[in-house]
Amino acid sequence: MANIILVGAQWGDEGKGKIIDVLTEQVDMVVRTQGGSNAGHTVYVGKQKYVLHLIPSGILHGKTKCVIANGVVIDPVALVKEIEDLETLGTKVNGNLRISEKAHVVLPYHRELDACSERLKGKKSIGTTRRGIGPAYADKISRTGLRMLDLLRPDFPERLRAHVSASNRIIRALGGKPVVLAPIVAEYQRAAQRLRPLITDTVALLHQTIDRGGSLLFEGAQGSYLDIDHGTYPYVTSSNTTSGGACTGSGVPPNRIDKVIGVMKAYTTRVGGGPLPTEDALIADLLHGMGREFGATTGRARRCGWFDAVVTRQAAQINGIDEIAVTNLDGLDTLAEVKICTHYKIGERKLDRVAADLDTLAACKPVYRSFPGWLTDTSGIRDWKGLPLNARKYLKALAELTGAKLAMVSIGPARDQTIFL
Ligand code: GDP
Ligand code: IMO
Ligand code: MG
Repeated sequence: MANIILVGAQWGDEGKGKIIDVLTEQVDMVVRTQGGSNAGHTVYVGKQKYVLHLIPSGILHGKTKCVIANGVVIDPVALVKEIEDLETLGTKVNGNLRISEKAHVVLPYHRELDACSERLKGKKSIGTTRRGIGPAYADKISRTGLRMLDLLRPDFPERLRAHVSASNRIIRALGGKPVVLAPIVAEYQRAAQRLRPLITDTVALLHQTIDRGGSLLFEGAQGSYLDIDHGTYPYVTSSNTTSGGACTGSGVPPNRIDKVIGVMKAYTTRVGGGPLPTEDALIADLLHGMGREFGATTGRARRCGWFDAVVTRQAAQINGIDEIAVTNLDGLDTLAEVKICTHYKIGERKLDRVAADLDTLAACKPVYRSFPGWLTDTSGIRDWKGLPLNARKYLKALAELTGAKLAMVSIGPARDQTIFL
């Protein structure tokens, strides 16, 4: 049995939730290792739609153990609501979910600070999900954060008082709305009581599973170009979304990882500000017109563009992607011509890297290779040979240009709309 890291190879929303759900039956545990409720992972079980934010998508299988590991930042109130919503729909959560005692807590002042920071940036705002992710990670790095184990301590209200007053000083200076201590204490202590039985040493739990020969599936959140180190900084999130983050975020070392899977859409999307070199109105209008590409967490329309192989090739390198899962192929079904960006040009100069300097990246003009479309509804196709020849040619080129093995193709949101190669 293999331990697999699954990452998004673009700017998030690649369809990771769907692919995790499909792979879950092959593993013993599904593990979230970074990010927080900024993630929105959509899974359909039959006609029922689920959007998971903090809980690993594997929970929907009913028997797979799921772990929210140390690298995640957790809003405990949002987590309790997510648990209750799942239970209302009949999903068993309690026995199957464990939460790291070391994970940091997202508090209401983090959300307010997130909003202040975005407001102050004006036109240059990142377009965050306003879930308090950046400020919560900032507290962690500044060594001033509260962890899940602190939430359970009797002196939590006292410690929170100090944090609230320190944060309110900054919030006031930024022109924001100060938070009120008493309701936060009440709400967070209620959440703590509900979560208490689930909070544990998840590093030990993950290693016990590995030692027993069990297999882990690490569910990446966000995407490679939202990575704090490797993304289009500062238009990024505040965690390491690339494969290395799964190790630090869980306490499972690199030599226990057997495979890295990169999930990518057959085109490119991003939600929020920042560069998107292959952005194209035609493809955005097409997909939005089909009612697709609206954010799972915030409902915002996603920006859309052609498949960018410069982006995925560099993602393959940074993450060590062995296999790729291409989703949303069906989104391109009605196009007579489809395009892949193979490299960029600035004037006559050829570039095949995603430039770290955003002015350079903004000056990059994508150079495309054109492919004939397949003009066929692929959503009902269930095997590789059944796909139109032009679709297979497009997928083969996409994998070759990315530099990894094509392993899965998704042609719809449902579990069975998946082709294995
Ligand atoms: P994630 O954050 O990576 O899990 O992706 P999201 O759930 O935010 O966004 C992906 C969207 O695409 C969701 O609405 C999925 O239901 C949908 N989806 C995933 N794969 C496919 C596919 O192959 N075809 C279609 N039509 N929709 C898909
Ligand atoms: P999943 O896991 C797409 C984006 C936000 C914003 C930037 C910073 O569903 O793929 P943050 O709230 O994290 O401080 O916002 O990152 N972003 C995502 N975009 N998918 C996500 O998650 C995202 N999580 C954050 O839109 O541009
Ligand atoms: Mg999403």
